[in-house]
Amino acid sequence: MDDRNGWGRNRPEPTGSPHDPPTSFVEQATVTNAADDEPLDAQFEDAWPACWERAADLLSWDEAYDTVLDDSNAPFYRWFTGGELNASYNCIDRHLEAGRKNHAAIRWEGKRGERETYTYQDLFVAVNEFAAALRELGVEADDVVTIYLPMIPELPIAMLACARIGAPHSVVFAGLSADALATRMDAADSEYLVTCDGYYRRGDAFNQKSKADNARLAVEQDVETVVVDRLGEELPHVLGDDEWDYHDLCAEFAGASVEPVSRDAEDMLFLMYTSGTTGDPKGVVHSTGGYLAQIAWTARSVLDIQPADTYWCAADIGWITGHSYIVYGPLALGTTTVMYEGTPDYPDRDRLWEIIDRNAVDIFYTAPTAVRAFMKWGTEYPDRHDLSSLRLLGSVGEPISPRPWRWYYEHIGDGECPIVDTWWQTETGAIMVSTLPGVDPMKPGAAGPPLPGIEVAVVDEDGNEVDPGKAGYLTIPRPWPAMARTLYDGDERYRAEYWDRFSDPDADDWWYFSGDTASVDDDGYVTVLGRVDDVINVASQRLSTMEIESAIAEVDGVAETAVVGRSSERRGTEIYAYVSAAGDPSDGLRERILESVADAIGPIATPEAVVFTPELPKTRSGKIMRRLLEDIANGEELGDTSALRNPEIVGEIQSERDRS
Ligand code: WTA
Repeated sequence: MDDRNGWGRNRPEPTGSPHDPPTSFVEQATVTNAADDEPLDAQFEDAWPACWERAADLLSWDEAYDTVLDDSNAPFYRWFTGGELNASYNCIDRHLEAGRKNHAAIRWEGKRGERETYTYQDLFVAVNEFAAALRELGVEADDVVTIYLPMIPELPIAMLACARIGAPHSVVFAGLSADALATRMDAADSEYLVTCDGYYRRGDAFNQKSKADNARLAVEQDVETVVVDRLGEELPHVLGDDEWDYHDLCAEFAGASVEPVSRDAEDMLFLMYTSGTTGDPKGVVHSTGGYLAQIAWTARSVLDIQPADTYWCAADIGWITGHSYIVYGPLALGTTTVMYEGTPDYPDRDRLWEIIDRNAVDIFYTAPTAVRAFMKWGTEYPDRHDLSSLRLLGSVGEPISPRPWRWYYEHIGDGECPIVDTWWQTETGAIMVSTLPGVDPMKPGAAGPPLPGIEVAVVDEDGNEVDPGKAGYLTIPRPWPAMARTLYDGDERYRAEYWDRFSDPDADDWWYFSGDTASVDDDGYVTVLGRVDDVINVASQRLSTMEIESAIAEVDGVAETAVVGRSSERRGTEIYAYVSAAGDPSDGLRERILESVADAIGPIATPEAVVFTPELPKTRSGKIMRRLLEDIANGEELGDTSALRNPEIVGEIQSERDRS
């Protein structure tokens, strides 16, 4: 295991290919390889782990740290030990001190066309008032505050107010159910909840409070609840015992100022629940110092965020992407971050492009599932708007296959904007694998090399590195500052979930296992193939459903696809493909799909069945419900489908399956 390839250490030189970083971009990029300097990778490598001081230098520390990395109790690594800082101070106060109080911090675009701008001074006032209110309710440092809010400004304000008084927040995505909320509050022993009366979903008012009420009934502990009145007259705002109106509370503390609490670098900044391979959701614990340092560094070097920019990450703050790259990263750098409450197709399918046009957005970061939807809707929507303000595009959340990549590059970026395909996870906290947009050529379909200071390795069952081009397990053999520190449910589970599989404790050699499969090419570029649980065995051949999906997605006329396994006596597993078509599927599309898969991977991977459906079933956060599709393919009893955004699609798919 010690014989490491050193992947990503030999980045390819630009070759004059169309996917070299555009010159206009490089000329202004925040991070480049200066001609007279050693390449960044080498600089990081020579000084590892001290290289991470550069990231820490982007922050303001109350107390300087003594040690960059303490690995004496691996895999429970500690970063910047002895250092003290406050996240809310770093995201707000220091920008005021730098004379930037009137700079826009948050531009909020509401679902009904409402618009609000919070300058850094406005944000300072709002966060201080709510921090004072939380204290009044009894919140002390280290108390976990659960936040169950949609994409309204009170969400980041509440997060930063918690951070100000040293109370870790646990944000639960607003679209999750009452049960899910209760499980998370129970697991975190959380006695404080910030929620709202309701919110708008596509034009309709939707009751959030009743879900929160049900969750409160289900948990053991007493819960003090703060309720934001989002809907005004549309929903009666009735408050019971232990419930407080957010705006009344803040009004009570108008003008209050709350000293930011100095937190140890290793103190928990927040908890984020994420689904595991089994059972209960995992409460991923993130630190204050290491997390903020790597977030700020990656926001600057990968997303190229500069203070004068208007930056938009179109994720939801309820997930890690929003925590890191809507709230903490951009605000730590003092830029303007756009927050959008709505969906991309309401009131029309040009909504996002209209927002980019009107705000002159410089940087846009979204998920491949969104790009595939844009592609399906067609170019007429972006063509209605001036998108020339854009300088950089980002992708996150799943692999972006070459066809949507090219569509994004050409139709949104006009061939002028580099695309960063960023691989990371809730557990890694920050971006780990991506091209540096001012340095590295792009390869559509491959995320890129590991970032400077990061090491990844693709290994076989026994933990030996596989040859370039071969698939294996994606591991991280060296710690990084933003890594999860543990799981709230306990250190044992943390070790078991992430470290046991490929580490050698006797040799004190610790390899983090991501749960993903990947391959690495000769240039050190990582192509992520999918989760291990997406690996299927067809006639004893190991295939990735994602790889097959990518081959299908390449076919003209395919809008979106999901591939699952169906148990088969003959082949162990058969491949079952669901496809939503952009046009008429009867037009030889099935044949072209089979051919494309056979061409890309081999006949072994051609689907046994191709089922056409108008849409794929998705969760409210936009993830395709593969488990459900698998159950449909296997003719099994379907579980609860209430978490779906489009539950009506299930019946349609079942009858289509029966026909095919
Ligand atoms: C997948 C989201 C390919 C991967 C930040 C990972 C990706 C999981 C990419 C984490 C990418 C994320 N290319 N796959 N650029 N980014 N993934 O925790 O399977 O919601 O393990 O974090 O998303 O999802 P999570």
